[in-house]
Amino acid sequence: MRLRHVKMANNIIEASPYIVLDPFSYCSKWKELFGNDNPIHVEIGMGKGKFIIEKAINNPDINFIGIEKFDSVIVRALQKVNDKEIVNLKFIREDAFNVDKLFNKEVERIYLNFSDPWPKKRHEKRRLTSYSFLQKYDIIFKDKKYIHFKTDNRHLFEYSLISVTDYGYKIDSLSLDLHDDNLEDNVTTEYEEKFHKKGYPIYKMEISRN
Ligand SMILES: C[S@@+](CC[C@H](N)C(=O)[O-])C[C@H]1O[C@@H](n2cnc3c(N)ncnc32)[C@H](O)[C@@H]1O
Repeated sequence: MRLRHVKMANNIIEASPYIVLDPFSYCSKWKELFGNDNPIHVEIGMGKGKFIIEKAINNPDINFIGIEKFDSVIVRALQKVNDKEIVNLKFIREDAFNVDKLFNKEVERIYLNFSDPWPKKRHEKRRLTSYSFLQKYDIIFKDKKYIHFKTDNRHLFEYSLISVTDYGYKIDSLSLDLHDDNLEDNVTTEYEEKFHKKGYPIYKMEISRN
């Protein structure tokens, strides 16, 4: 992004009521921010926000928080909600690496949608389903741990299946071709629509751990 665009994105982000500019100060206090004790669902790497915005609109009794590290992407999500008032939706501009400092036993469910695959072995720790991220999630989950994971990337899916089951997660449901199997209640993401249109199968698993 050119400098002028970086500045514009920053101005839009800082003026938006959806963005929590000091998210670390809300660690252990998210229910105060929302003004209720409703469950909190977090999408990590929310991209341009289609999924989490639709989820929030469809589920007013759940609080949704999207985490995205890039300004240029998060502004696209803000453009979608500018003219709306969705009181159960917030966005955090932050690297997921710090997710364990954003929440303290407050999250009911994590969504990982089309996460970056980081195919090189030396980048394994950056995968959002790696052992080191699963350890971070233990800190943020309130009680029972629920993760919903979708991807078009077969290698990442296979890696994640092994990683999460080795860690102790139980597979509650699994699809190797989501759009062929069961679309009930499926809310699509931007990447999902793109890859589905190209004819790629979408893999999904819903997992949990006590
Ligand atoms: C492939 S895109 C998928 C976006 C969206 N979830 C979807 O399905 O359309 C991955 C997104 O995750 C974000 N992302 C990747 N690693 C991240 C991290 N460590 N912390 C926060 N966001 C991250 C990227 O910036 C990008 O927007």
